[in-house]
Amino acid sequence: MVHIKKVDIFGFKSFGFKNTSINFEPGLVSISGPNGSGKSNILDAIVFAMGENKARVMRQPNLRLLIHDIDGNRHGPKLTRVRVQFDNSDRKIPVDSDTVTITREMNDKGESVYHMDSKKINRNRILDIFEVANANLSPLNAVQQGTVTRISEMSSEEKRKTIEDLVGLSYFDEKKTESLKQLTEADQRLEVAMAKMGEVKKQIDELEVERNLKLR
Ligand SMILES: Nc1ncnc2c1ncn2[C@@H]1O[C@H](COP(=O)(O)OP(=O)(O)O)[C@@H](O)[C@H]1O
Ligand SMILES: [Mg+2]
Repeated sequence: MVHIKKVDIFGFKSFGFKNTSINFEPGLVSISGPNGSGKSNILDAIVFAMGENKARVMRQPNLRLLIHDIDGNRHGPKLTRVRVQFDNSDRKIPVDSDTVTITREMNDKGESVYHMDSKKINRNRILDIFEVANANLSPLNAVQQGTVTRISEMSSEEKRKTIEDLVGLSYFDEKKTESLKQLTEADQRLEVAMAKMGEVKKQIDELEVERNLKLR
């Protein structure tokens, strides 16, 4: 099974602008510490690196606020970087190496750059790779703080959304919207091509009439 070996956190939520490394052993890991010390922020950092784009999942109203102390009076970089190293000795992640490292860096405009090992990679590719490894971002894999108790207080619309998230529908929703957009674009290109074809056909017909007249 894919498991996390190490997480490096820089400038993410309560983690300041020096690298914090956390090593994980296989099996059950428990993290203890006082309230507000940043335990849940570690899980937020992991889902962030794996491509989570819903700020509310990481318990902030927008992505920018994930950067450490972004509105404080401080000097320092306005960016965050999280790196997660996965054990891939069983090759569940479709990459031929024993460890796979994902890095996400985000600036204060919410723009992100992802790397897999040292290569730049786009977010969709990361989502696909972890989908294949059955280690995707679904809330079944990452049960965030409050998810369980909050369900009882939800409106039916919110409940539906949560269930959709749970069964992984939102991932397909994103894919569907993207595919529909591509389909519309293809339709438009087809229409243009058909119009051009009609034009050429008209010209051929005219030339044919002309030729027949000349041949007579
Ligand atoms: N962008 C941020 N900059 C600095 N601190 C932050 C930021 N976002 C969240 N925090 C801090 O993270 C702390 C909460 O950490 P959390 O992981 O929820 O704690 P716990 O250990 O109780 O799970 C709070 O003190 C909050 O102020
Ligand atoms: Mg917590």
